[in-house]
Formats: sequence, C-alpha cells, structure tokens
Amino acid sequence: MFLRTKNIKLSPIKQMELLAAKIPDVVSLAQGIPSFDTPDVVKKAAIKALNRGVVAKYSLTYGLPELRETIEQKLAESEMYYDFEKEIIATAGSIEAITASLISIINSKKDEVILFSPSYASYCEAIKVAAGRPIFVNLIEADGWRIDFKNLARRINNRTAAIIICNPNNPTGTIFPKEDLLKIAELAWKRKIFIICDEVYKNFIYDNEVTFFSLAQIPQLRKIVIRVFSLSKIYAMTGWRIGFLHSDEENVSEIVKVHDSLVTCSPVISQYAAISALDFADKEIEEFRQKYQERRDLICRHLDDLPEFFSYQKPQGAYFIFPKIIQYKEVRPPMEVEPPKIKSASWRFAIDLLKKARVAVVPGLAFGPSGEGHIRMSFGRSEKDINEAMRRIKEYFNE
Ligand SMILES: Cc1ncc(COP(=O)(O)O)c(C=O)c1O
Repeated sequence: MFLRTKNIKLSPIKQMELLAAKIPDVVSLAQGIPSFDTPDVVKKAAIKALNRGVVAKYSLTYGLPELRETIEQKLAESEMYYDFEKEIIATAGSIEAITASLISIINSKKDEVILFSPSYASYCEAIKVAAGRPIFVNLIEADGWRIDFKNLARRINNRTAAIIICNPNNPTGTIFPKEDLLKIAELAWKRKIFIICDEVYKNFIYDNEVTFFSLAQIPQLRKIVIRVFSLSKIYAMTGWRIGFLHSDEENVSEIVKVHDSLVTCSPVISQYAAISALDFADKEIEEFRQKYQERRDLICRHLDDLPEFFSYQKPQGAYFIFPKIIQYKEVRPPMEVEPPKIKSASWRFAIDLLKKARVAVVPGLAFGPSGEGHIRMSFGRSEKDINEAMRRIKEYFNE
C-alpha cells in the first residue's frame, strides 16, 4: 500500500513554505513566485472568454486550436517549427508536461533519468512518480555551474531513458552555452535518449552577455527533444496552471494519452488567457525582466555586505541566487518548528534562519546532492521583501 508514494517527498520548497506559514511575520524568499500580478490584457481576455460563455466545457485534449496556432507562430519567431495540430499540447503548467513526458518515456523500473545537480527540485520526484530512477550528475560550481561532461558520459548507459536540462537553470541562474547543449545532444543522439528541455525562465536573461539557444531549434533532433514551457513565470501566471510542450508528432501522440488521463485538458479559461498573453504581453515581460535584473543586483549588493558568511555567483538568468554558506554559528535551542528528519547543514541553517530571523529560504540539498552547503533565495519577490529579508539576515549574523 502506497509503496510508490512512500518514496516520494513533498517538494522541499513547499515543505519550507509550510514551516514558514507557522511563523508570524515571515519574509519568504523561498518559493519561486513572481511578485507581479498577471498583466491586465491577460485578465481582460479571461473575463471576456468567461462572459462569452466559452470556458465551461473541456477543450480538445491537445488544447484549443487557436491557442496552439498562436504557440506555433510564437515558436516560429524563435526558429522552432512545430505543427500546432499534432506537435503541441497545452498543459496544466510545465510540471504536468514534464511528468506526462516522463510517464510516457519510462518503460521499466530500471529506467534511469539523468538530472543535473543542482537543478529544479521537482524533477526528482516527478521521475519517481513515473517509476523511474533519478541519476544525478553534478554541475561544477568552480566552473560557473557548468556541466561535468566526463561524469555525464560515465552515467549514460543502456538504462538511460532521458536527460532533463533546465535552461536557464533553477537554482543557479546559469545559462548553458550552445556548445554544451550540442555536446549533450551528441551523447543522447547516439543512444536515442530523450532530452527534456525545460526553458520556463528563458525570457529572464540579464546583461545581454549570453545568447540563449534551444535544442528544439535543431530540426534533426526533433525525435529526441521534448521542450516544455510555461506561462507561469514569464507572464506572472503561476496560479493559472498553463504551459505547453512540443516535440515530434510521434512523441506527442504518446504523451497526449498520459496528459488526457491526468487532466483531460488544461484549464480552458487559462487557455484563453494564454492566447492574449502570447499575443499582447511582450511589453510586460520586458518590464518584469528589467525589474528582476535590478533585484538581482540589489540582492548581490546585500550579499556583498556578508563576504565572511556567503560566496555566490551572479545569476545570468531566472530569478534565483544560490549562495554558498561559508560559515554560520550553529546554536540549537529547542525548536518551535520541527525540521524534516534530514541531517543536512543547509536544512539546519534554513530552519535556524526561519526561526531566528523569520526569513524563509530553500536549503540547497533540495536541488540535489551538490546543492548541500548552499541556500536558494528568490529575487522574484518585491524590493521591499528582499531588503527586509536581507536586513534580518545581516542582523542574524551580527548577533
Ligand atoms: C525550472 C522549473 N520548471 C518547471 C516549474 C513548474 O512550473 P509550472 O508548473 O508552474 O509551469 C518550475 C516552478 O518553479 C521551475 O522552476
């Protein structure tokens, strides 16, 4: 009974939010939720659809044709050519797209899925939900959190079903260069391993220093690349649960069966909202991006005031920073909140910070073994929250 789920954990990000909810006056930099509201043009489109009486019924399982057509056009602007009728599915956020893809791909309990450490915490649990085995390959911190290709090549074997790549990477903010992505593709192509490209932060890239590249731009790789995207982050629509995936027709025709059994279709009101977002909210995305860049610089300046406690790499994209904890004094009075039963320094630090400074962050271990010794802070939150959280953290260290 519950044999499979016993092995699956609630995402540590959500565990942290649950613990934080028990403490009054907490400032949370834990969950990756944009501080902004959904753009007005999107909200108006949703209201209009509601008033037109078109949202009460299921859509086609693949999603509304007019949404998929809009997605097809939007993808073509980025040199990704996919047929809306057969190669695109509107999903309930990108996590549903990832889970449905993994369930379709994983054939036996022995099947392995490679994920990089540190990367988005929910991948590991989604792989387990799909009854596969997560295999971590560490990113090299000293090399700007780039991929350890020797290790990657060693970890690939006959049981490898897929590799998940998060670009820009949550939690490190790394943007993987084209040459690295091509190397992954070369390794995967030889053995017909799927690559799931999660690009939900691709519009939040700072300083114009790097060019973003997607493997879904290479037509020859269509059979092995499944790209997932979401409106959650870039349009500030996390609560609407709308995203999409695209791949070659053959892959999509398999994944859609799982999508159907999970959700039937993505929320129809959100699909109408998504059409408007994709068509009319480019201006807002750019405004959000500029704000996040300012907030990244703000949080970096705060961390610069604490050089004896944290070292960090400046994120190139997404809205997370992943500082390394250099030292903290571990004082352990009786806790009012019970920490999860994990013997991890980053968990203990995060719990201590929550309890004493009333600041919620995510322990680095949540993102894979090499995340240990770090914390993740979101600068998707408002300047006010960032300033207050950092003021409290400085006070915590001064004490
Ligand atoms: C890298 C990454 N992928 C996927 C998701 C899932 O987002 P959603 O299901 O809202 O699209 C998140 C959410 O934090 C994320 O950070």
